[in-house]
Amino acid sequence: SFELSLRPQSLKQYIGQDKVKENLEIFIQAAKLRQETLDHVLLYGPPGLGKTTLATIIANEMGVNIRTTAGPAIERPGDLAAILTALEPGDVLFIDEIHRLPRSIEEVLYPAMEDFCLDIVIGKGPGARSVRLDLPPFTLVGATTRAGSLSAPLRDRFGVMSRLEYYNKEQLKEIVIRTSDVLETEVDELAASEIATRSRGTPRIANRLLRRVRDYAQVRADGSVDYQLAAEALEMLQVDRLGLDHIDHKLLKGIIEKFRGGPVGLETIAATIGEESHTIEDVYEPYLLQIGFLQRTPRGRIATPLVYNHFQLEVPSD
Ligand code: ADE
Repeated sequence: SFELSLRPQSLKQYIGQDKVKENLEIFIQAAKLRQETLDHVLLYGPPGLGKTTLATIIANEMGVNIRTTAGPAIERPGDLAAILTALEPGDVLFIDEIHRLPRSIEEVLYPAMEDFCLDIVIGKGPGARSVRLDLPPFTLVGATTRAGSLSAPLRDRFGVMSRLEYYNKEQLKEIVIRTSDVLETEVDELAASEIATRSRGTPRIANRLLRRVRDYAQVRADGSVDYQLAAEALEMLQVDRLGLDHIDHKLLKGIIEKFRGGPVGLETIAATIGEESHTIEDVYEPYLLQIGFLQRTPRGRIATPLVYNHFQLEVPSD
């Protein structure tokens, strides 16, 4: 479909994550040469960097189907058993947010990953018996924003672990230009650069901003996007020069104004600005840490002088 073609379909079309691509390319080719199933793959890193896209590409490159589910959607061993027994040989099973899989399910997953079999208990009490079911060989692709939250035995069963990194500006610009082609929208080089600069290293954000800028261009101008128009639209969207949005601002200004720049604990910040601590930790913090705006210390988070400069505030002298 049109929507789907927005996502790259092959490793060749996929921009950035060069190290991850280089590795996957070899493992995929080797598995194909040996006519084997690809080893299980764990993709981890901040949201929006392309974990789901890569899972789809892995299935495409292997020439198999992908079945998609998510950690919180699998509540009982039977849910997982139903998915696993419906797989065709070689299929990719993609489990998003795999760190949210209940522990009781993980235990069903271990033998499935290791030996392609399923131990299910039939009945209850003294009459209960265990039955071993053979499964078709499959590749589990797990995605998580927090590899550290996976139990060690689960983590150890992935033969390939790939960490996705934030994209640089050139890569994001290339993605914006590619997406603008798919959307049949004219975007000039400077406008593409500007959108890239304000995308927090994240293709999902770049593509979202591009769509909103395109809306603005269609209503306020002739539909094509130049630098001036992009800057106006981004201003309207309250995305600042570094791509920080109003939640980033609330977080950073909260630390500065209420806690004199910190250190302040995550839970305290969360309560102050009314966001979930997990959302702050998984979605907002990683980029602010990456650009050196926040530091994590044993005593809590600190806003660095870069934050004061960004907001044109004086750095406190103590
Ligand atoms: N669209 C979103 N992410 C992309 C990527 N990494 N490469 C190409 N197009 C994309």
